[in-house]
Amino acid sequence: MLKYRSLLGLSNARVATQVSRCRPRNISRASSSQISGGLATHLTRASASAAALRPRSLEDAPQELPEVSPDDLPIISTGDNKVAIGWDTRTWSRFHNIWLRDHCRCPKCFHAITKQRLVDTFEIPHDIIPVRVEPKVEGLEVSWPSTDPHVSVYPWSWLQRNSYDPVIHKPDAAKEKILWGAKIEQSPPAVTYEEMMAGDDKGLFKSLTNIASVLPPTPESTEKLVQRIGFIRETQYGRFWDFTSDLAKGDMAYTTLALGAHTDTTYYTDPCGLQVFHLLSHTDGSGGASLLVDGFYAASILKELHPESYELLSRVHVPAHAAGEPSAIYRPYPPSGYPVLGHNPVTGELAQVRWNNDDRSVMNHLDPQLVEQWYNAIRAWNQCITSPDSEFWIQLQPGTTVVIDNHRVLHGRSAFDGKRRMCGAYVGVDEYRSKLAVLTEKFAPDAVLRATNELPMAVVNGRNIWNSAL
Ligand SMILES: [Fe+2]
Ligand SMILES: [Zn+2]
Repeated sequence: MLKYRSLLGLSNARVATQVSRCRPRNISRASSSQISGGLATHLTRASASAAALRPRSLEDAPQELPEVSPDDLPIISTGDNKVAIGWDTRTWSRFHNIWLRDHCRCPKCFHAITKQRLVDTFEIPHDIIPVRVEPKVEGLEVSWPSTDPHVSVYPWSWLQRNSYDPVIHKPDAAKEKILWGAKIEQSPPAVTYEEMMAGDDKGLFKSLTNIASVLPPTPESTEKLVQRIGFIRETQYGRFWDFTSDLAKGDMAYTTLALGAHTDTTYYTDPCGLQVFHLLSHTDGSGGASLLVDGFYAASILKELHPESYELLSRVHVPAHAAGEPSAIYRPYPPSGYPVLGHNPVTGELAQVRWNNDDRSVMNHLDPQLVEQWYNAIRAWNQCITSPDSEFWIQLQPGTTVVIDNHRVLHGRSAFDGKRRMCGAYVGVDEYRSKLAVLTEKFAPDAVLRATNELPMAVVNGRNIWNSAL
């Protein structure tokens, strides 16, 4: 009986003890411009000092607001074009009237089954003003002027989650990324194959956050496992690969050569999301150990030791190509490619690592002032991903399937001789994230779902209309 392992974005307490020292620092989610701006107000309930309505810096904002209690509803005030909600004496969220009207989720404005907008946004007067605004137990109730009366109710938890003035940062423990290095070897994340395939989806959820399993060493079982996650993404390497080192495809993966830590398909505009691979057999030879490196961990080290290199790798675009097959030339669009370290443009968080030095194309767009600095930066990056502290080496055995997040985890292998048969597949990143979101909704609902799941008309066709993804 052998093991199946996966190394996605780990969020499991078992590995947390080993990697907690690598926790990323909090990155503020709002720029000062997002939280600036005042609001002329008059109070409709209770009283609050004018000072409470002044914009506040994010540093002052609480990291987490308490749930709204029926005995202590928020204070509401309205101004010319906004509604302000006082969560406590210090924290206010402001919502523009037009924003509120556009986000109504009543059955006339939002299709409860398809979860698509029905309201005609362009019919909303740009200067719409509510007729009445009232705090109710279930949420903020807003009556709008129209020929037939229109009342919107916005759950409190949903308003807190979607507050944009200011952004209220509520840390989501389930989504916290735990960085890992070589010490993960002591206790790699794992679930059993039976758990993963069980109909209740619990094992699948565990597997997408933290995996390992027992798997018969056959391509058929591996393919079933991949399909359990989502649609297989077909590429120039096929749909489901089953290959040896015969150079059947014009790529170094199909040789016996050592491969340094890299992510796959850097030459795509959207690189594959998950990579699943399974060593089916290795006969008449040795070597071929697998290498896994947490790119987010390596990036955190780079940022610490060489912040200027981190900045450069976050900024300079790197072109790439796959051209080993006469029938195809793959390049990303735009052809100048993407930075090695991709960030979420809204939150500033590291979102994607793209790195395969072998597939890099001509760097003909480099600022001449930056050429030497850029080479120094990739040298520093290479040191981070090849440091023994980062490298997790594992000698796979038939029956051990590896699942990695190709936007985060780099992989490689040592050279080998003999005959090695591998199989595996890619899953698109949206496919994988969709599955994870569905399972999170089911097994780890966030504060908005917990607060609204019991509201009348909230859950339609198995999905809550207040789901934070909508
Ligand atoms: Fe690869
Ligand atoms: Zn409506």
